Amino acid sequence: MPSYIVLLGPPGAGKGTQAKILADTFGLVHVSSGDIFRENLKAQTELGKRAQNFMNRGELVPDDLTIAMIRERLSRPDCKLGAILDGFPRTPAQADALAVMLGELGGKVDVVPYIAVPAPVLIERLSGRWTCRASGHVFHEKYNPPKIAGKCDFDQSELYQRDDDKSETVARRIQVYTDQTAPLIEYYQKRNLLAEVDGTQGIEVVGQQLLKAVKKYAL
Ligand code: AP5
Ligand code: MG
Repeated sequence: MPSYIVLLGPPGAGKGTQAKILADTFGLVHVSSGDIFRENLKAQTELGKRAQNFMNRGELVPDDLTIAMIRERLSRPDCKLGAILDGFPRTPAQADALAVMLGELGGKVDVVPYIAVPAPVLIERLSGRWTCRASGHVFHEKYNPPKIAGKCDFDQSELYQRDDDKSETVARRIQVYTDQTAPLIEYYQKRNLLAEVDGTQGIEVVGQQLLKAVKKYAL
């Protein structure tokens, strides 16, 4: 049976950072809805063009577009063993749709690690973030600097600052998270799937605690 881990947390909590570590550890694919939207944007696909306006304003892309995109991604052969989901679901409607699509794939959500981080820390993290163009590896100028400034440690591609990391967009993203995504904490708590981790600790400590939380659920 495939395994699916859903990483929940506000913008800048460390979902992308930790998803890459978990994906390597468990040999699962990292599926980031934000990364897929950014790839589509770069390739100027119809989906990318439609998503762009929402992303630039810090708003959510409509559920129907997002759900169809994730459904297609999870049905590909490389997700046969499961996936680490990062940034999806983000609304209760997306969570309901995920339960249905994983059922069709012969699986279910196995665990939902929730990386808890307060707003002032998020703002500092996002303003110092540098992202790799090739595959979305993330660095931080203070907390996780690349070995060579401006270059990704893993694939030597150029590092850039995301358009939606501007301070006014960050404020909107945090508000949107609070209004539309935070209800998923209770949604998954009720289903006994939530495993909260204190995300204000260093990257390694958070990683160890996530690993412990995930291993409690037989993978
Ligand atoms: P998305 O790309 O998913 O952005 P996000 O959720 O806002 O999350 P981030 O990627 O900003 O943060 P993260 O938690 O991954 O943190 P990271 O590891 O990089 O979404 C972008 C947009 O796409 C949305 O606004 C929306 O428009 C659209 N979208 C995406 N999914 C959607 C959906 N399902 N429905 C509708 N619309 C959707 O870490 C941040 C920084 O902190 C880095 O610099 C990192 O090095 C550093 N850091 C990480 N951990 C630590 C630590 N423990 N200590 C110190 N520094 C740390
Ligand atoms: Mg991310």
